Amino acid sequence: MKMAFLRNTWYVAARAQHVTREFLVRDILSEPVLMYRKENGEAVAIGNRCPHRFAPLSMGKLVGDAVECGYHGLQFDCSGACVLNPHGDGKIPRNAAVKTYPIVERYGFIWIWMGSPEKADPSLIPEFSHLADPKFTSVGDEMIQEANYELVVDNLMDLSHAMFLHADYQKTDMFLTAKHDVEQIGNSLHSRRVVPGTKPPPSFKSSLEDPDQPVDYWLNVRWDAPGLCVLDIGVVSAGRPQEEGIRRYGTHLVTPETEYRTRYYYASSRNYRLNDKKADEELQKWQEVGFHQQDKPMIEAVQNMMGEATDLLSMKPILLSVDGASIRARRILNQMVAAEQEEKQLAP
Ligand code: FES
Ligand SMILES: [Fe+2]
Repeated sequence: MKMAFLRNTWYVAARAQHVTREFLVRDILSEPVLMYRKENGEAVAIGNRCPHRFAPLSMGKLVGDAVECGYHGLQFDCSGACVLNPHGDGKIPRNAAVKTYPIVERYGFIWIWMGSPEKADPSLIPEFSHLADPKFTSVGDEMIQEANYELVVDNLMDLSHAMFLHADYQKTDMFLTAKHDVEQIGNSLHSRRVVPGTKPPPSFKSSLEDPDQPVDYWLNVRWDAPGLCVLDIGVVSAGRPQEEGIRRYGTHLVTPETEYRTRYYYASSRNYRLNDKKADEELQKWQEVGFHQQDKPMIEAVQNMMGEATDLLSMKPILLSVDGASIRARRILNQMVAAEQEEKQLAP
């Protein structure tokens, strides 16, 4: 059976700077979405399919704040209503409307609500305030992974893979045996791990005064459904409080384009070497190597091995201790999707 998407939730639709007076088209949960900004700068998201002959509205143009279809000239306003029919008596046919989606601009992203519009509560967007905090410097980008989004989320919830797939940047001694706990708070998961008195991972070395001194290395993850993760990673001189150390927040926001294609937004925010171009370049290099050259081919190859399947658990994988957090995240998500489906069936 195909897994339904969670609809009553916020997804990242785009990075805010990419939504302009030019059309931006994105598939989100297999729906074609068209985004642009009104003349007053406000962002808009509507369905990209003209209800006449199904032309992509993105092949048309903006007329003020309305969209004119490039095929036969119907015009739609930002509420999705058809406001101009240039043909015949100009009567607007009933049902001549496109879908509109609630959106919120926050933390440098456009967040979109794909479910019932009346449930779109902006306070449900999890907190990523480090992205706007002047005490941090952030670098980030986005990428496509040709794989089901849950495989991309698994990869973030199971950071033990970094010791193998990213050994060149992230390897530390004793990581795999360090104490690790996972706690569920509401529908969020918090996984915490501390590796005491270890060698700093290579990606921190150039930012430490004495890279040979042992450190306590921590790695915490917060997950919110369906794929919104923050990693809190840092090092401090062994035995000292974490506040004295240096840390990076990794923001990882996963949006399903289709069942088999995922758009993955990432950013790294550090509280050290602020506004230091060289530090930016080092982190960008890690993102390029780690995410694009190491994670992406592995995750895509896993999807390829799974063929058309998208539900990993239906394939009965063997489970290791490292899978605890990712399995719990899948379970919470499955429950949320099931509750939503049930509600839909009960709806009058
Ligand atoms: S397809 Fe859009 S007006 Fe005909
Ligand atoms: Fe990775």
